[in-house]
Amino acid sequence: MLNKITVVGAGNVGATAAQRIAEKELARTVVMVDVAEGIPQGKALDQWESAPIELFDSRVIGSNGYDESAGSDIVVITAGIARKPGMSRDDLLNTNAGIVKSVAENVAKTSPNAIIIVVSNPLDVMCYVAMKASGFPRERVIGMAGVLDTARYRSFLAEALDVSVRDIQAMVLGGHGDTMVPLISYTTVSGIPITQFLDKAKLDAIVDRARNGGAEIVKYLKTGSAYYAPSSGAVQIVEAIVLDQKRILPCSAWLDGEYGMKGLFLGVPVKLGRRGMEKIIEVTLTADEKAALAKSAEAVREPMAVIKF
Ligand code: NAI
Ligand code: 2OP
Repeated sequence: MLNKITVVGAGNVGATAAQRIAEKELARTVVMVDVAEGIPQGKALDQWESAPIELFDSRVIGSNGYDESAGSDIVVITAGIARKPGMSRDDLLNTNAGIVKSVAENVAKTSPNAIIIVVSNPLDVMCYVAMKASGFPRERVIGMAGVLDTARYRSFLAEALDVSVRDIQAMVLGGHGDTMVPLISYTTVSGIPITQFLDKAKLDAIVDRARNGGAEIVKYLKTGSAYYAPSSGAVQIVEAIVLDQKRILPCSAWLDGEYGMKGLFLGVPVKLGRRGMEKIIEVTLTADEKAALAKSAEAVREPMAVIKF
């Protein structure tokens, strides 16, 4: 158990993430920070009052400032505006860049040794903003998206095959957007290649659904975007760090030559442990997967080139 984990943004993703962190007792104190007056305080109190029923001793507190979060070991950034129907993740660009910049500056001042996990969209670009604004090394700025995209892909495969989600191994790389890259060549059912279970047309349909998984939820919810699976994704990363699990998960990481690319955040397999992003794992890709990853990198570089923060 760590001493303190802060979640900035007490909205749908942030509050659900804080609840999951507290229920798993990953930190002694869980702090929710939000600009909306009363919201983090009210949600934190409500969550803390569930502790005697859910049986956790993590103390959840809410605040509109950073004093209570000072000295955090991990800070999850979910602050920002979310997608509405018809909006792409890039529509959120400049508004969320300003928000993430101010959050990361505050985190650097009050929790200089923290590991930052970014959730705010557009994800890969917000990771860049958080790294620049905090001045933290790349090991301590990690983006959550690949875990979510992979979970969507795995859940659709498990449903199509009528097997346990536990037995689907897969990895979705690339930027968090329509150009994400599900690695069919590394998708297995208990180690058996997925191509032995599904024909190309069915696999293509599932890949397409995973790529549009975020939009599918927005279409139903109308006033917001997904948060149960996204908060699970963020907390899986938190847990891997807190417990020093050395898990290999797809996360957005700052590339410095890996996969032949430099100077951008992109979803790649990383090893997660107590030091944060401990290693980027380079796997062999097919020619198609390499081309798709390069295209996805372009889709991240474009907004990076015009972003103002
Ligand atoms: P939400 O609207 O429910 O919550 C956002 C919260 O941020 C609000 O409570 C708002 O008051 C707060 N906020 C705004 N400015 C702030 C600031 N300067 N400091 C502190 N708090 C501030 O939105 P939701 O659904 O929780 O989504 C949050 C973000 O996460 C969005 O950008 C969304 O697109 C992104 N997202 C990313 C995913 C991913 O896979 N990376 C998945 C799901 C959502
Ligand atoms: C999602 O994929 C909106 O990025 C968010 O659900």
